Amino acid sequence: MTALDPTVTGSTPTVPGASPEAFRPELHFAARDTWLNDPNGLIYHGGLFHLYFQNNPFGNVWGNMSWGHATSADLVTWREHPVAIPCDEREDVFSGSVVFDAHNTSGLGTSDQPPLVAVYTSAFRNGAGHDGIQAQSIAFSLDGGYRWTKHAGNPVLSRASPDFRDPKVFWYSGEGSSYWVLVAVEATQHLVVLYRSDDLLAWEHLSDFGPANATGGVWECPDLFPLPVRDEPGASAWVLTVNLSPGGPNGGSAGQYFVGDFDGVSFTPHSTVPPGPDDGARLREYGWLDWGRDFYAAVAFTDAPDDRRILLGWMNNWEYANEIPTSPWRSAMSLPRELSLVRTAAGLRLAQRVPAEVERAAFPAFAAERTPVDLDVLVDEVRAVPAPDSVAMRIDATFRPGSATEFGLVVRGAALGGSDDAAGGTRIGIRPGEGVILLDRTRSGDTGFSAAFPSVETAPVAALDGAYRLTVYTDRCSVEVFAEDGLVTLTDLVFPAESATAISVYASGGDAEVTDLRITAAIR
Ligand code: FRU
Repeated sequence: MTALDPTVTGSTPTVPGASPEAFRPELHFAARDTWLNDPNGLIYHGGLFHLYFQNNPFGNVWGNMSWGHATSADLVTWREHPVAIPCDEREDVFSGSVVFDAHNTSGLGTSDQPPLVAVYTSAFRNGAGHDGIQAQSIAFSLDGGYRWTKHAGNPVLSRASPDFRDPKVFWYSGEGSSYWVLVAVEATQHLVVLYRSDDLLAWEHLSDFGPANATGGVWECPDLFPLPVRDEPGASAWVLTVNLSPGGPNGGSAGQYFVGDFDGVSFTPHSTVPPGPDDGARLREYGWLDWGRDFYAAVAFTDAPDDRRILLGWMNNWEYANEIPTSPWRSAMSLPRELSLVRTAAGLRLAQRVPAEVERAAFPAFAAERTPVDLDVLVDEVRAVPAPDSVAMRIDATFRPGSATEFGLVVRGAALGGSDDAAGGTRIGIRPGEGVILLDRTRSGDTGFSAAFPSVETAPVAALDGAYRLTVYTDRCSVEVFAEDGLVTLTDLVFPAESATAISVYASGGDAEVTDLRITAAIR
């Protein structure tokens, strides 16, 4: 990445037949009228979730990187605040994290007024004395995260490297000693680098992890945290996440994860796939945070209530990020996802679900209401089902496979009888014979703004107790699919007409049974 001219403001895209504001999400955060990319500094503090984000305060394409800021009590309704940490003539402010320095170890606050400390990457501009270098810097806030002061001694950690970035910091409590740990990347070397500190200012190298598994692009935005194993009281493991762009399993940006142990010095994965060329088959053996095209730069909230790990991703892909047809804003965050580990025959795997506070805020009717639809066996047919006139929905569907080669759902479809392509929509299909789930957005509305955009993604999926249960969240410009009890997720941007709210179920090449279908409109 190179620092852009501060006058970069971007263009307003023209979308035939659609108002760009029609794509503004109901349930996902987007900036009011500017560009955003990675979530930064995610922290729960003072009763609010704070979301900082890579932001161009002057336009709606990437550039002038600064930290924007928004807060939310429920992770659904967000309030945008003034820019928190701006770029200046010396540096662009790249991704990083925030910690609450409760014991004022940094001395940047007082014991009565401990600081929030942001650790971010300074992408130095020419003439700042660190030309072409990315190094880690500090800013602090004494008012709960709204106003920030850059530390006079920046940068606090440099390797004189052009690609050392995206620090995630956490407090590590080991046997006998506790300290701050920083994980960051040497992006082009496919290394996660670990450091420790007692005061957030002086850092000592601990270890490196990598290269491992997917290395078809730069490594960015790592995270490292312990996670309990579901249904095994007292059992836990560490999860290392690292984002990769390009080189994801379905093209472009994506995030991979490793499950293993962290002893305060080194992260050791339980297993990695032996090194070799990143061919398609091998890519599918790795652990992926999401198999869709639009879930990147994901990191977890620090200090989330009840010790939960809640992940947020940037819902976009560097292959076309600057071209998506929205204005004056561009890009949104994913829905938040609560993480757990599940023991499977293939070892511990990450499972994701939308957190309870999001469900309560957005889908309060879910538990009470069951959509009255005739559940039935589908035989080589596409059948429309009654759906609320809403773009933001949660759809729960259970299918039992029969002889059909493929069955599933079409969401955000054009209303029957409408002037749009009646077959249009976003297709979520299961092919039991191939053991895959697919997400097809080739007929999902506007796909023409980038040749890299139209796509059909696939992920390995298995039946549980003989059935395939899907939970799908739709919004104005997104479809997020959770399958196999959250072990498999696929997230895609889509740009259909606002009127495209139809839902249908289908089976092709034989029969399949829909044994449960529940459609819940979001309340905002
Ligand atoms: C990931 C990324 C980070 C960097 C930031 C710059 O999307 O490239 O590595 O810090 O975006 O905006």
